[in-house]
Amino acid sequence: MELRTHALEVLRLSHARNKAQAAQQMLTQAHHYHIDPHTRPNLVAGVALPGHPQRPQLRRHTEVARRSPATLHGRVVLMHAIAHIEFNAINLALDAIWRFDGLPTAFYLDWLQVAAEEGKHFVLIEDWLQAQGHAYGDFPAHQGLWAMCEKTADDIVARMALVPRTLEARGLDATPQIQRKLHHVGTPDALAAVAILDTILTEEIGHVAIGNHWYRWLCAQRGLEPVAHYAALTARYQAPRPKPPLNTDARMAAGFTEEELQWLHMEPEPAPPFNRPIWVGLPSETTP
Ligand SMILES: [Fe+2]
Ligand SMILES: [Fe+2]
Repeated sequence: MELRTHALEVLRLSHARNKAQAAQQMLTQAHHYHIDPHTRPNLVAGVALPGHPQRPQLRRHTEVARRSPATLHGRVVLMHAIAHIEFNAINLALDAIWRFDGLPTAFYLDWLQVAAEEGKHFVLIEDWLQAQGHAYGDFPAHQGLWAMCEKTADDIVARMALVPRTLEARGLDATPQIQRKLHHVGTPDALAAVAILDTILTEEIGHVAIGNHWYRWLCAQRGLEPVAHYAALTARYQAPRPKPPLNTDARMAAGFTEEELQWLHMEPEPAPPFNRPIWVGLPSETTP
C-alpha cells in the first residue's frame, strides 16, 4: 500500500479512537508501505476533511468553557480540551503526509511518527476521561489547530512554521504550567493526568523538532532566511505569539536557536484572544 494514500484514508475516519489506533498501526506497519512523493491521492468531491465524530460539538473558542482544575469537573473539562487537541494533532500529521508532494522520504516518515504518537496521546487521555466516567465528545471543543492547517494548506513553509513550531511549541510552554496546577491538586486522577502530560511533553519536543528541521530545510531549499521569514509568516497568517513564560529548555531541546528565542521574547504580549492557557487559541473569526 502507498503511505500517502493510506494517510488520506485514515484522515477521513470519523471515529476518533479508531483514527488514533489506525495512526499507531500505520507506524508499526511502516515497513509494508511504499512512498510515492509524487502521487496525489484523490479527494472525493464533497468529502470534508478531516473525518470528525458527531461529538464534540464545534464552537468558537470564545464559547468553549474553561474550569478551574481544582474540581474534578474542571480537570475533566481541561483534559477533554487536550484530547481534542490530540485528535486534531493526528489530523495535522496525516494531512502533512498526503497533502505535500515532492518531499524526501524522511519527511513522510517523520510525520508518520508524529501521527502515531498523537494517536497514543489521544488514547491515553481518552482512557483517563473514561476512568472519570466521561468520554471524548462530552464537551464542546474548538478547531484552532485545524483552522491553521486549513489556512496553510497551500504553503508548506507556512505549515511547518505555524503549526508544529508555533502551535505545538505553545504546548511546550503551557504543559508544565498545567502540570504544576494538577500536582498542587494532588488527587490520584490529577497525578495520573500529570503522568500522561509527562509523556506528551517529552514526545511533543520531538514533534516541534521535526517542524523546526523541515522548516529550516525548506527555507534552505528556497533561499529564505528562517528568522525573518518566520516573522513575515506570523504576520501574514495572524499566528498567535507564545505566551510567556516560555519553556526555554524544551524549546532549545526542540531545536530553537538563541536568536529565535530572543525574537519570541521580544514580541509584545499577545492580545486577549490569544492569551489563553490552552495553546491553540486563534482569532474567533478563523474558527467555525
Ligand atoms: Fe500530542
Ligand atoms: Fe504533537
